[in-house]
Amino acid sequence: MRVGFLQMRCKFGDVKKNVKKAVTLLGRVSNATIVLPELFNTGYLFKNKKELASLAETVPDGYTTNEIRKVAKKKNLNIVFGIAQKVKGKIYNSAVFVDSKGKIDLYRKVHLFDREKLLFDHGTSLKVKSTDEAKLGFMICFDWLFPEVSRTLTLKGAQILCHPSNLVLPYGQNAMVTRCIENRVFAITANRIGIERRGPVRLEFTGKSQIVSPNGEILVSAGDKSESLKVVEIDIKEADDKNLNPNNNVIEDRFSSYYSIITDK
Ligand code: ACM
Repeated sequence: MRVGFLQMRCKFGDVKKNVKKAVTLLGRVSNATIVLPELFNTGYLFKNKKELASLAETVPDGYTTNEIRKVAKKKNLNIVFGIAQKVKGKIYNSAVFVDSKGKIDLYRKVHLFDREKLLFDHGTSLKVKSTDEAKLGFMICFDWLFPEVSRTLTLKGAQILCHPSNLVLPYGQNAMVTRCIENRVFAITANRIGIERRGPVRLEFTGKSQIVSPNGEILVSAGDKSESLKVVEIDIKEADDKNLNPNNNVIEDRFSSYYSIITDK
């Protein structure tokens, strides 16, 4: 199957411009599953809840989802993108999945990073979506720090971790290589580039979007300065072989009763 990422620069608050840019770039590819960055349509550094609420959208009937759905249908794409999602008085940092027929599913970010905790409500479950070609597990940016996320998605059957991101710490991409090795899954991390300044706060997004194989090989990556749309062919069956060598299987070799403290709180 063909998988890819769109790494882009986003202009804070200019939803029309960001969506138009993404749709134009996505128009250059077809027949693939593509991941976009976290909050790609709004930008990241909301000053307060009021500003966030003014830019958040409903799903599936909001402007951004409708525009992405059109290009997904036209170009036979499955697309995962990040959005601030308004739901009855709550706002989630969500990853929306749109398939090539226009059907929608979504995941709400569980592990909120830094000031996100003051702004967003957190999600309450992890999600794996079966498509015709693969089982997709969703995680958003800072979810990478919690190995429980990728392990849980793997145990739920995920073959590819779809990872919309606004990475700012320097080691998230490297950590995703480890997540792939320890679970023997693929991962698509789609990051932003550029700097966002809002009042006294300044953030630089680290780019280096990547697609990683179950062996931890970086199949394709982007730099940290330019926008980039990359697609590669993968053999999804590689993610079903959990054997590291003839004597080790990364799932069967676990002694989960020794680790129960993880879920005991
Ligand atoms: C992040 O979770 N956006 C760093």
